[in-house]
Amino acid sequence: AANGHRTAFVDNDRKPAGHGRMLRKEDPRFVRGRGRYVDDLQLPGMLHLAILRSPLAHARVLSVDTALAEAHPKVRLVVTGAMLAEKGLAWMPTLSNDVQAVLATDKVRFQGQEVAFVVAEDRYAARDALELIDVEYEPLDPVIDVRTALSPEAPVIRDDLEGKSDNHVFDWETGDAAATEEVFRRADVVVSQDIVYPRVHPAPMETCGAVADYDAVDGKLTLWSTTQAPHAHRTLYAIVAGLPEHKIRVVSPDIGGGFGNKVPIYPGYVCAIVASLLTGKPVKWVEDRAENLISTGFARDYIMRGEIAATREGRILAVRTNVLADHGAFNGVAAPTKYPAGFFGVFTGSYDLEAAYCKMTAVYTNKAPGGVAYACSFRITEAVYLVERIVDCLAAELRMDPIELRMRNFIRPEQFPYRTKTGWVYDSGNYAPTMELAKRLAGYDELRAEQARRRARGEIMGIGVSFYTEAVGAGPRKDMDILGLGMADGCELRVHPTGKAVVRLSVQSQGQGHETTFAQIVAEELGIPPQDIEVVHGDTDQTPFGLGTYGSRSTPVSGAAAALVARKVRDKARLIASGMLEVSVADLEWEKGTFRVAGDPDAFVTIQDIAMRAHGAGDLPEGVEGGLEAQICYNPENLTYPHGAYICVVDIDPGTAKVTVRRFVAVDDCGTRINPMIIEGQVHGGLTDGVGMALMEMIAFDEDGNCLSGSLMDYLIPTALEVPDWETGFTVTPSPHHPIGAKGVGESATVGSPPAIVNAVVDALSPFGIRHADMPLTPSRVWEAMRGQPVPP
Ligand code: CDP
Repeated sequence: AANGHRTAFVDNDRKPAGHGRMLRKEDPRFVRGRGRYVDDLQLPGMLHLAILRSPLAHARVLSVDTALAEAHPKVRLVVTGAMLAEKGLAWMPTLSNDVQAVLATDKVRFQGQEVAFVVAEDRYAARDALELIDVEYEPLDPVIDVRTALSPEAPVIRDDLEGKSDNHVFDWETGDAAATEEVFRRADVVVSQDIVYPRVHPAPMETCGAVADYDAVDGKLTLWSTTQAPHAHRTLYAIVAGLPEHKIRVVSPDIGGGFGNKVPIYPGYVCAIVASLLTGKPVKWVEDRAENLISTGFARDYIMRGEIAATREGRILAVRTNVLADHGAFNGVAAPTKYPAGFFGVFTGSYDLEAAYCKMTAVYTNKAPGGVAYACSFRITEAVYLVERIVDCLAAELRMDPIELRMRNFIRPEQFPYRTKTGWVYDSGNYAPTMELAKRLAGYDELRAEQARRRARGEIMGIGVSFYTEAVGAGPRKDMDILGLGMADGCELRVHPTGKAVVRLSVQSQGQGHETTFAQIVAEELGIPPQDIEVVHGDTDQTPFGLGTYGSRSTPVSGAAAALVARKVRDKARLIASGMLEVSVADLEWEKGTFRVAGDPDAFVTIQDIAMRAHGAGDLPEGVEGGLEAQICYNPENLTYPHGAYICVVDIDPGTAKVTVRRFVAVDDCGTRINPMIIEGQVHGGLTDGVGMALMEMIAFDEDGNCLSGSLMDYLIPTALEVPDWETGFTVTPSPHHPIGAKGVGESATVGSPPAIVNAVVDALSPFGIRHADMPLTPSRVWEAMRGQPVPP
């Protein structure tokens, strides 16, 4: 807390039972190499599945000859799209009401699409046998450039959809076009800028995979899979397969990073299930790195035109944007049904505007499906990038300091809850102190002075600022669902006779430390030490229904559920305590872990005493059942809106145009902080992601639709060498509607950091007359922007 500035809070950094810094309970198994990932699973008689993928981006499939592969001595099964079609399984629903081919039947629509699979006795044989399958393709013209996808000459990619005669996916708009136009007409200053958020990939360390085990005797399917949403996946499998949910168990064991990549259902999972059904054996499928990068959920890929209108004094009046969204060959976007563009509607940012408007068109192209929320809440990253870039463009136009411009336009604390011009209700915020703290931590004024000195010496230094507001914790079931499933989260808490407890969650950790923080949430409410609270998650047979972990929703939704279920248990404990102490409940006072009789210091019972009585011999107060447990399904009232201020300092080598992030200050506000150490880890990870996206990462294609980023030598992700020592601080503005005031934080830094870095690079290049450059700001792009020139005087 040394550098933290708090707006309203309790100091929770050092409490023994509850919120505060605490080492992660899950780490002993991870640091000893004892994590249990899908690929660690070995079942007796298990077979291995490998997928044959299309080498072409767009082609008709004329024939698939599997005879040679079937003759391979170790091969047990070869399946083609035609075989799946006979069983009605060649197509599956996506999370956005589209369909996607499990195995291609008519055409292949992106390079890397699934065409056939082989099941063999070992992984090597399965891969070898892929080479023996002979597919005859008739190449078709691919649609690669999203800008030409809607031209009348463009080939129709999705001719499988009845009546489809173009590559249009959807049109979407938000805000008020006429009101915005009116504001733009009377504004003193209008700035517009074309901005691309390139296609990137979440690239989790563990690729996707599954082990399917169908037991023909009891008719039960067990699927261990790399999923961020086990319950949602189970219900979809149940619907597609026509099996009752209790005949399907989805287990999501330890997961090596998700970042949105493990939200969709991939053909590989379905293939593993089909293979187990057909062979009667457990079947394992695990992707390699290239398969993960080429065929699974990409993110972003928005081509945006941003416009901002302001007065000459720097009062921002309106923001307008037009977006062309590349959705790939199948609409695999993961977003609540009513939000085809996710939460892009928060592109109004942290500013009090008079009007705003967005128009978006989404198109199909011959690229991998996706549009997943890569470490962000459904397109928030794109929205924040747009507004924070365009605000900087305005600052440049007005020759105004970017912090000063932001400060003048922030939504003021007394305006919360604040309804934006696109209809989002920000629950709470206090932006100026967060920005001021970042400014102070960075030593901003001195940095500007240093920049002037360096510029005079011909050095290229830039300072970039961003300020984000996220919308996380999807979401209120009245308007949020995934394929008709409401976004509420269940939670169950059972206190054993000895006062130890088990809490069962519907969300699923992929490295965020839920086994620790959720124990801490319950500990804070009940006074049971977090070490005595076991967190169970990721197994549909053992946990209540809920929609899973993505979009930083775990703490806002399941975290609330965990606090409320603990309070429900505490209410019952109070009744039992009143019986034990022979006083009325009104005479009892709760002090973390203990009920005391008011005015009598010697009369008290602990939660452990109560747990034993709840299960023990002897009478309980009238009407109180035995046991000490409760369950809840929490439907959030609203999203939570974390915010933060980031300042980035870069140096650019004039000889090589290489950008180095020298310093990065991040001040985040996620409301009540459960475990500050875990929050810092989340922020460090997100900032590192931001460096990757801003400077290194892009899934690129050539004009034939060949993916040029199918390995980690081509798709560059940052390591410790590319990032500075992060300087973090925080403010605390609790959420008014969350039971403990917590907001999400898992993705804040991924959302907030790319614009800070790009703004810094553009600031560095401003002497060259540069106002914008698109990510990733690789040396070649920066060199191009500088035109290879020395710094102009
Ligand atoms: O949904 P996901 O777990 O990815 O994101 P999150 O809810 O933002 O939580 C990420 C991690 O940070 C979890 O372990 C949280 O419990 C922890 N966290 C916290 O300690 N305090 C907060 N106010 C928010 C999150």
